[in-house]
Amino acid sequence: MPAAALAKCVNGAIAFGAEGVGDTMTKAIRIHANGGPEALRWEDVELPPPGPGQAQVRQTAIGINYSDVNVRRGGFYLKQKPVFPLTLGNEAAGVVAAVGPGVTDIKAGDRVAYAGMHGEFYDDTGAYVQSRNVFADRLVNIPDGVSDQQAAAMLLKGFTASLIINKLFTPKKGDTILIHTVAAGVGIILCQWAKHLGATVLGTVGSEDKAKIARAHGCDHTILYREKDFVEETLKLAPGGVDAVFDGVGKDTFVKSLNCTRPFGLMVNYGNASGHVPPFELLLLAKGSVSICRPGVSSYTRDVVTMRKAAAELFELVRTGALRIEIGRTYKLEDAATAHRDLEGRNASGSLLLLP
Ligand SMILES: NC(=O)c1ccc[n+]([C@@H]2O[C@H](COP(=O)([O-])OP(=O)(O)OC[C@H]3O[C@@H](n4cnc5c(N)ncnc54)[C@H](OP(=O)(O)O)[C@@H]3O)[C@@H](O)[C@H]2O)c1
Repeated sequence: MPAAALAKCVNGAIAFGAEGVGDTMTKAIRIHANGGPEALRWEDVELPPPGPGQAQVRQTAIGINYSDVNVRRGGFYLKQKPVFPLTLGNEAAGVVAAVGPGVTDIKAGDRVAYAGMHGEFYDDTGAYVQSRNVFADRLVNIPDGVSDQQAAAMLLKGFTASLIINKLFTPKKGDTILIHTVAAGVGIILCQWAKHLGATVLGTVGSEDKAKIARAHGCDHTILYREKDFVEETLKLAPGGVDAVFDGVGKDTFVKSLNCTRPFGLMVNYGNASGHVPPFELLLLAKGSVSICRPGVSSYTRDVVTMRKAAAELFELVRTGALRIEIGRTYKLEDAATAHRDLEGRNASGSLLLLP
């Protein structure tokens, strides 16, 4: 296929458009329509030189997130129609190959990572690719002592944990927290961070294998929530209710979790792995004067100073051993469909990575 007939960009949402730019080809996983994992296609795409404010990153590890599945399926969230072909993904690490005009704080040879671009993460994708151009103000330098794979496995999930812990509820000694799906990507970071700050962690898990992984990362009590009633189990362990619930599951867990919370406790729903939380009666909160919050990570990381401060804190937690980044499995980039099947089939723990 002639280069001109190929897509002009690595992110389906942006058209570079200029004739003859590019000049290098790279490989990407793209979709031409919403659908199942079979919609993922391994294709050649054009890679123009980095434009003003951009750096070209040769990616070495790409983080997989549940939002990639949602974007592939057609999304829970999309406000605008997707522009096909669309390259999935929001998160990766790699090495800077070149920088465009005006870039001063990042240079060729730097090890870098990113999670999210300037827009909402579910609108502004493009990471499932070997090499791409990224706005330099979205990059963070990866410090010594943190590998590319760790960085790609931790940044988006870590930013989400950072948003919850730094902005919504900072666990402390004496607190008891319930974390749903505690062996998953965000859950396992929240668990270790809450333990590091002195809290007791109860965590729901989908299998005994996941329970072992959660316990190995500090979870005090695991609850097999597909077999047992998690409200009853939680109240046995924390009779007055927990101080906070961190919930990335949504539909199957959120409303029931109101019964796990102590008076004046906080419920944070940050994800929808089982589907959206259905509309519910606000009056339900009155019984325990419970607060609820539904954070979105893009609102936290859009500001570059906040984003880089959060990244620095996360890297330091890894370097000091407070956070162990669990890489559940790695896949070749071209095998992204298998990774999506594992994620949707609930066969994954920790973070999954694609390796270009
Ligand atoms: N608010 C934000 O800005 C933000 C940021 C990052 C992530 N998120 C969202 O947070 C949620 C968790 O993210 P993550 O990275 O921790 O997820 P993940 O590693 O992909 O894990 C999702 C887990 O959810 C559980 N689950 C429960 N019901 C499920 C179902 N019907 N289908 C598939 N999985 C189901 C499974 O664990 P068990 O087998 O243990 O039940 C599964 O392993 C996702 O919905 C993600 O989109 C939101």
